[in-house]
Amino acid sequence: MKEKRKNGRQKATEKISYYPKQQWKPGNMVYPVPAVMVTASDGEGKDNIITVAWTGTICTNPPMVYISVRPERYSYHMIQQTKEFVINLTTRELAYATDYCGVKSGREVDKFDILKLTKQKASKVSAPLIGESPVNIECKVLQCQELGSHHMFLAEVVSVHVSEAYLDEKEKFHLERAEPIVYSHGTYYGLKDMLGTFGYSIKKSNSARKKKIERGNKKQNREILKNRGSYRGKVL
Ligand SMILES: Cc1cc2nc3c(=O)[nH]c(=O)nc-3n(C[C@H](O)[C@H](O)[C@H](O)COP(=O)(O)O)c2cc1C
Repeated sequence: MKEKRKNGRQKATEKISYYPKQQWKPGNMVYPVPAVMVTASDGEGKDNIITVAWTGTICTNPPMVYISVRPERYSYHMIQQTKEFVINLTTRELAYATDYCGVKSGREVDKFDILKLTKQKASKVSAPLIGESPVNIECKVLQCQELGSHHMFLAEVVSVHVSEAYLDEKEKFHLERAEPIVYSHGTYYGLKDMLGTFGYSIKKSNSARKKKIERGNKKQNREILKNRGSYRGKVL
């Protein structure tokens, strides 16, 4: 039986169980993914929101993202024409709106109006920001790759807005306090446990660090004593 550690973290030496596998036909299996609300505008006063799960970061510097959208979506031509969109991150509170924007088309309804979402002016693009979203990422399209069912818009991030409600006194941003959601095989989930921070697998814990220092000190003391002995031996 696996030893359960108090902090729930796994020891590097613990063996993880694995099971027999079935081979499936090729399909989309990279889950969980974010489900974001993408805002777009036709540049003539009509704005829309589309939920997108096929999205992600593709470059750190310059900051670049992608969204893949089916050409038959109402939003597609808005993005294609203006070459602009905004990625609005979603939260537990926005879960209903996220789903609604993914099943209703802007051809039939005004999603901003029906969901009582707040339009905020973006700084560099014509599409509006969703006020209730904790993070709004303004994007300008660089390329459109016609892949098949979906066309992928590669875009540069031109501005980012973060809600001050999640900034601490040191200006550190805590997205987890906004309760972000993910989408996995048709289901939305909240995020529950914090399992570790970047690089924790190789980080020494405080007690391990203390033990290492103690070990170092003991070795140093032993060498001092040993040298003192031989020194004494030589002199005496
Ligand atoms: C969770 C979820 C994720 C979705 N992801 C995508 C996506 O990545 N690309 C896409 O074209 N449609 C996606 N859709 C479908 C569109 O959001 C949906 O067809 C929407 O009604 C289109 O809105 P529009 O016609 O106003 O543009 C998704 C729907 C849901 C519920």
